[in-house]
Amino acid sequence: MAGTVESTPHRVPTPALATTYEGMDSDLFQQVLPLVDYLEIAPDSISRTSNGHAGALRPELLDQIASATPHTGLIVHGIGLSIGTADGWNSSYIRLLDEFFSRFTPRWHSEHLGYTTVDGENLDTMLSLPRTEEMLDLLCERIRILQERYKVPFLVEHIIHLLPDAPAEYTPAAFLNALTSRTGCGLILDAYNLECDAHNFGFDIPSFLDELNLHPVREMHLAGGFEHHGFQLDIHSRPTADSTIALAHRILARCPNLEVVTWELLKEAAPALGASITCAELTRIRAEIANIPAELASC
Ligand SMILES: [Fe+2]
Ligand SMILES: [Fe+2]
Repeated sequence: MAGTVESTPHRVPTPALATTYEGMDSDLFQQVLPLVDYLEIAPDSISRTSNGHAGALRPELLDQIASATPHTGLIVHGIGLSIGTADGWNSSYIRLLDEFFSRFTPRWHSEHLGYTTVDGENLDTMLSLPRTEEMLDLLCERIRILQERYKVPFLVEHIIHLLPDAPAEYTPAAFLNALTSRTGCGLILDAYNLECDAHNFGFDIPSFLDELNLHPVREMHLAGGFEHHGFQLDIHSRPTADSTIALAHRILARCPNLEVVTWELLKEAAPALGASITCAELTRIRAEIANIPAELASC
C-alpha cells in the first residue's frame, strides 16, 4: 500500500477464525464448531440478569462452552466493563470475568473503548471516549490492573461514534498508539466499525491506518449491518458486505501480528439468518482471509 508511514511485513500464517458465542441452540452449535478455531465469549451475554445487573454466569452455557474445548479455543470480549466511566468501572463485570477465568483460560480478553454508565445509570448504549490526556491516564491505570489480575493479554477495540467527536488532544490513531505503547495492550481493529464511521461522519480510514501502529493488532472483527435513515448501524445481523471484506484484506496485508479474525453475529439475529447462511458465511470468510489479493500481499 503505497504511501504508508510505517512499512510492515506481510503476515505469513493465515489467521484463525472465530465467531460470537452468546449461547447457541445445540443444533447450530454443532454445525458452527467445525468451522471455527475460537469462540468469542461475551461474559455479559452468558450471565443471568436481575434488576438490570449481571449476575452469575449461566452454568448450562459454561458446560456447553466446556464441551467445545480443547478443540476450540476461547477468547473473551466484554461489553459491560465501561472502562471509561470516570467514577469507576462496572465491578459486576469484573465478577463475571473472575468466574469465567476460574474455569477457563482464554487466549486473551478484550473490551471496548467506551462507557455504558454515568453516575451509576446505565445508558443502554455505548459511547466513545474523549481522546484527552486525562482519559489516557485513567485507561492506562485500569488496563494495568486488568493485565495484572488476569495474566493473559488484554486487547481494546475502537467503537463507532454515535455522536460527533468531542474536542480532542489526540487523533484517533495517536490515542490508540499512546495506549498501546504505554501499556503493552493489544488492539482489535473492527473493519465494519471503521466503515460505519466513514459512512456516518466521513472518517478517513486510509489516513487512520497510515498513522496507526499496526503491530499491536492481534484481532480483527467483521460484521454486517444495515443503514437506517442514512445512519449505518453497528448491528451485527447480516453477512459481511463485499466492501468490508475488501477493507479486511487491506488490514490483513498490513498487520503482521494479527492472529484471529472474528465474524460477529448477534444472538438475536441468528434465527432470522439461519444455520445455512451462518455456516456459509463462516466458510466464505475462512476462504477470504486465506486469500489476500496479490497486489496487497506484497505491500
Ligand atoms: Fe466489540
Ligand atoms: Fe467489533
